Amino acid sequence: MQARAPLMMEHRLIEKMLNVIQKKVESVEKAQSIDPYFVDTAVDFLRVYADRTHHGKEEEIMFRALRGKHLSDEDRQMMDELITDHIFSRNNTKVLVEANDRYRKGDSQAIGQIITCLKTMVDFYPKHIQKEDALFFPASRNYFSEEEDQAMLAEFWEFDRRLIHEKYNAVLKDFESRISR
Ligand SMILES: [Fe+2]
Ligand SMILES: [Fe+2]
Repeated sequence: MQARAPLMMEHRLIEKMLNVIQKKVESVEKAQSIDPYFVDTAVDFLRVYADRTHHGKEEEIMFRALRGKHLSDEDRQMMDELITDHIFSRNNTKVLVEANDRYRKGDSQAIGQIITCLKTMVDFYPKHIQKEDALFFPASRNYFSEEEDQAMLAEFWEFDRRLIHEKYNAVLKDFESRISR
């Protein structure tokens, strides 16, 4: 298996989640109301899976390894663009969380912002996936030897192995801070 395979499998899961979000948005727009717990779950997916698990492997392992290579101007530009996309999606999720907080506290107007953020993700993210799957991943493969690619794959598995512990340590910390408030 090539190192990029697990990243592409993660893309498929993210696409399925975006389909669910898109369907949800259609009904939410009609009803002009949303269950804040749906948003919480979408946010958990976006933050823990799409951002930490997936972008984490891209940025902290693959892109980091590519920084040690002599990338063409075009590939370097594309990598910068992908990182900017990650920042954009992170910021969009932050706005979504804030809007959901306001909505939960009774600000029904915040539904507009929630819908905008969810739609932004559904519109924007498939284009990001396409850039990686069709262009950047195949191009970046040329900078690595077979051994380097396999070492990167091993790093991906190790990264994933640690994440479940990271996730639940964060849940614990959050609960502890709420109890001590
Ligand atoms: Fe990415
Ligand atoms: Fe990706």
